[in-house]
Amino acid sequence: MKSETTERQPLIPSAHFRQQLSATRRGARLARLLAVQQLADWGWARDGETVQTAALLVAELAANAVVHGRVAGRDFLLTLAVSPTTTTLPTAPAALRIAVSDCRGERLPAPAPGSQSTDEYGRGLLIIETLATRWGTEPRPPSGKTVWAEIVLGDGPTG
Ligand SMILES: Nc1ncnc2c1ncn2[C@@H]1O[C@H](COP(=O)(O)OP(=O)(O)OP(=O)(O)O)[C@@H](O)[C@H]1O
Ligand SMILES: [Mg+2]
Repeated sequence: MKSETTERQPLIPSAHFRQQLSATRRGARLARLLAVQQLADWGWARDGETVQTAALLVAELAANAVVHGRVAGRDFLLTLAVSPTTTTLPTAPAALRIAVSDCRGERLPAPAPGSQSTDEYGRGLLIIETLATRWGTEPRPPSGKTVWAEIVLGDGPTG
């Protein structure tokens, strides 16, 4: 007789990556390069939409961490997490969560009102708002914060 219990079968396995980086422009650049490499290692095409979108999100989140969230001498943390979709949870699609934690918990991202971004201000959050399925911030005790952005993934690491 067939078992009543449906086995959870991840279509995309969960995966996790974290890296501390110096809060410098070089560190921010490295964050983007490492994210692209990691996603390629997980099977996504470097020139595919998922990786290109993720690269832009990492670049803007990391740039903000080193410009606005920097505390002298403290690193920032890049985290990538793929949450699996399962055959038993078809309503919860797989997602890639990109998180950048910095040490300035008292300052938060402040989107420019309306579409008031200029070449010098407000472009980053506009890009994040446009490309991410959802984004947000959360406190990171004792004195930091995490700014995260999620993109929903397709059925597998194909593009
Ligand atoms: N990690 C962060 N820590 C503190 N403040 C932040 C952070 N990220 C964003 N902000 C605030 O939100 C504002 C808007 O961010 P956004 O990235 O849209 O623009 P920007 O960084 O000023 O300019 P750019 O167009 O070069 O990205 C910033 O000017 C800053 O005040
Ligand atoms: Mg910015």
